[in-house]
Amino acid sequence: MDLQKLLNEMTVDEKLAQMTQLVPQIITDKGEGAVTGPMRNFGITRKVTSKIGTLLGGTGAEQLKFLQDFHMDEDPHKIPLLFMADIIHGYRTLYPVPLGLGASFDTELAEQCCAMAAKEAVAGGLHVTFAPMVDLVRDARWGRCMETTGEDPYLNSKMSAAMVRGFQGENLEKDKIAACVKHFAAYGACDGGRDYDAVELGDRTLREFYMPAYKVAVDEGVELVMTSFNTLNGVPSSANKYLVDDILRKEWGFDGIVISDFNAFYEMISHGIAANEKECAKKALDATSDIEMMSTCYVKFGKQLLEEGEITEKQLDDAVMRILKLKEKLGLFDDPYRGASVEEEKRLHLCKEHRDLARVAAEKSAVLLKNDGVLPLDENVKKIAVIGPAADHGMIGGWFCCGTVAEAVSALDGIKNVAKNADVKLAFGSTFDPNEKPEAVADRIAEAKKLAAECDAVVLCIGEEMDMSGESHTRARISISDAQAELVKEVCSVNKNTVTVIYCGRPLALEKINDISPATVIFWHPGTEGGNALANLLFGRVNFQGKLPMTFPYEGQSPYFYNHLPTGRPNGNGGYCLRYLDTPYEPVYPFGYGMSYTTFEISSPTLSSNEMTEDGEITVFVNVKNTGNVHGIETVQLYINDVTASVSRPVKEMKGYQKVALAPGEEKTVAFKITLDALKFHTFSGEYKAEKGKFKVFVSNRSDVKEFVEFKLV
Ligand code: BGC
Repeated sequence: MDLQKLLNEMTVDEKLAQMTQLVPQIITDKGEGAVTGPMRNFGITRKVTSKIGTLLGGTGAEQLKFLQDFHMDEDPHKIPLLFMADIIHGYRTLYPVPLGLGASFDTELAEQCCAMAAKEAVAGGLHVTFAPMVDLVRDARWGRCMETTGEDPYLNSKMSAAMVRGFQGENLEKDKIAACVKHFAAYGACDGGRDYDAVELGDRTLREFYMPAYKVAVDEGVELVMTSFNTLNGVPSSANKYLVDDILRKEWGFDGIVISDFNAFYEMISHGIAANEKECAKKALDATSDIEMMSTCYVKFGKQLLEEGEITEKQLDDAVMRILKLKEKLGLFDDPYRGASVEEEKRLHLCKEHRDLARVAAEKSAVLLKNDGVLPLDENVKKIAVIGPAADHGMIGGWFCCGTVAEAVSALDGIKNVAKNADVKLAFGSTFDPNEKPEAVADRIAEAKKLAAECDAVVLCIGEEMDMSGESHTRARISISDAQAELVKEVCSVNKNTVTVIYCGRPLALEKINDISPATVIFWHPGTEGGNALANLLFGRVNFQGKLPMTFPYEGQSPYFYNHLPTGRPNGNGGYCLRYLDTPYEPVYPFGYGMSYTTFEISSPTLSSNEMTEDGEITVFVNVKNTGNVHGIETVQLYINDVTASVSRPVKEMKGYQKVALAPGEEKTVAFKITLDALKFHTFSGEYKAEKGKFKVFVSNRSDVKEFVEFKLV
């Protein structure tokens, strides 16, 4: 297809429509004018909707083929629609929410999961996913923790690259979809963890912590970038020329599509940086935003802006060319349906292979926090109680795309599938309501307690309902509810063989139950195969290997993150030091923490040399030994601290990790190479470089390790 020729033939109105994204209902609205129906709210007519460039939110081969036909009938140049949707943790077969994938520390797994989602989505007729979401997050109150891979830039970057590879493959092959990394930039740093709230960040923090995962996606060839809702230092991202044009396009060389978030152009008015839609359009175009999602500033005012000389046709042409190029790359001009197939949907969606992968992903994402001899449970147990609001519930998690709760395996069903001869009983105990008081469910708790007393083992399934995290689902208090805490207390008082399984889309404050529950598992929102994965883990058919990708703080500590700066008055130095009067200073569980059914001994680190030159490298060695009785996988983590620099550096920064599989008694040497890149940071004057001096090196299976060795950069 000669794209330049096509572009030359397009009118300004057609170009602006190409740069607009709406939902299917608007396209199929038959009203001729902006009088009735969904179009009315947008003040546009059929003249515009018939030429629109991209759609969001449609799914399924049948619907999307219909929409493509509907559109192609009317589009004067027969430019196919591009279909986009939020495929965040699976299309129909759901794997754990991204925070869970983060806990696996397994990038190969993340890539496989995204490849599976892409396959299912292609059959469903989709071309683009609004994923990966790689916003770094430090505040557990933010509802969108569930969509991230956590608080660490290194882990986030590894996951970001893997996910882009999984969705897009080498070059958007037939079973791949284009990825859209989001939300650029620093959306997760919103004030108070409140979704959509303002972000104020110094350039150094922005670049060091928040930017790397987006940058890595760009380096990996991601096709689209979505700008975020928030203001960053006073400017909303879709109008932020510095962010989008200077950094993303010029500095990083991104030549793909920049799309706004939902209605974000229009929201410039409430941000107080534009008086009307015309100004929104001008600011967005000047910031090189290509596609306007779910508002209509471009189509309504683009032409006028052009006539008044406020924008140039070249600006429009650049944007439209980027959109046409992606359509061409996906092969849509040759085949506007591109893989959409009802037969393939039937063959692929929820097929055994995909369910198996979803189960393995849920197994690898689970984090064992505590185990006072309760786990693994005995498969030959006679009577087992599954109790709690999540006990008989397919906990698929938010952003479930085409997945359904009905297709998911609950804890109850999973346990029945494994403990085949056991008498498996169910009680609800409490609801998910975070404000529920024990008195309100006293009868249910009493019933659960009675059942627990009669059983040999109890699996208590509590935490957050799927819709308690996600977009705009901020929580001010992240504790386990009083009713759930009472349930744990009462059940554990009569049955010491109890494991508490916590379902959540963010870190929860666990102090109310941490000492009471003899065994505790973080299971996130595990997806379609959650119940089967849980049973495999609890009965010891597979081992735990997940690690926390975010700190689990006490209530009131958020934001709390391991890679913070030191202070002049560290915790533990008497009264006037870093502390809380009413809460411990350390979190309940640190980043990187997670147990296994076996134990590992990690030796003190040794260095290949105590000095490193700028063009040299140092190797850190540890011996890792499986000192328990079963096979296990340990995630060995490398942290560095720059002891003296021209600016204060984080107390620890993860610079590498390795997953090491060991049979009982087996021992392996793990080596990490440290090169200059791992020591670089942004100086006060904006340089990115390493400075000579002392560095501490820590190697452990959790971030709160104290022991270190030192070397010097000379
Ligand atoms: C969210 C995005 C999402 C978009 C389209 C917005 O509200 O912030 O993450 O991709 O909607 O569904």
